[in-house]
Amino acid sequence: MQRSGDATPGVAQALAARRSCRNYRPDPLPNSLLNGLIDQARRAPTAGNCQGVEFLVLDQPDQVAAYWETTLSGERKKTFPWPGLLLAPALVVPYGMPGRYLERYREPDKATAELGENLEQWPVPYWLVDGAAAAMALQLLVVEAGLACCFFGQFSHEKNIADRFGVPQEAVAVGTLAIGYAVDDRPSKSTKRPRRPLTEVLHNGRWGH
Ligand SMILES: Cc1cc2nc3c(=O)[nH]c(=O)nc-3n(C[C@H](O)[C@H](O)[C@H](O)COP(=O)(O)O)c2cc1C
Repeated sequence: MQRSGDATPGVAQALAARRSCRNYRPDPLPNSLLNGLIDQARRAPTAGNCQGVEFLVLDQPDQVAAYWETTLSGERKKTFPWPGLLLAPALVVPYGMPGRYLERYREPDKATAELGENLEQWPVPYWLVDGAAAAMALQLLVVEAGLACCFFGQFSHEKNIADRFGVPQEAVAVGTLAIGYAVDDRPSKSTKRPRRPLTEVLHNGRWGH
């Protein structure tokens, strides 16, 4: 077992190498690679060990095509600025399952938190926190495996996607991850934003200087 404080260069390297990739080769992923990465990604922490994150995996051409059919109208598809994103051989949607959090926080050891009655009580929606942690873990594993990925929002399409793929009503999508082999990418406008200086985001001991 690794001692706390030991360096883990694999994680640091994957984090440094990760970029949102919006241009893919259409080549399929090796069989079962994705399931293995998701199995590892679900080691990310979850509140109360709820394990309330589930994954919709679309890695067959007809499934991926159905996703884009659901989210891009014919007209929008023609003018979509990232046609290479549509070639990614796999899409993964991590979902937070709020019901599992209510159930878990009704258990005796969580009673003092008073979060087991309804979702409105939750100051922070942990199902989304956990979903985001799993999504990040998956991105690092994808990069470590020599693949590329891009996390993007579902915006107004969440319900249509859920309906199309039989996702239960209570599930909340944190976003969609495209995964595949990178081709030379044109960076998005967002990428041109300079990284904020560390001194601006770090508040040691107290907010403000
Ligand atoms: C919550 C979230 C939502 C995002 N939504 C989109 C999106 O809808 N479309 C897109 O092209 N990229 C999206 N991105 C990717 C960001 O634009 C990207 O991470 C950011 O510009 C930094 O670039 P990098 O990932 O290459 O480091 C999203 C990223 C996050 C974390």
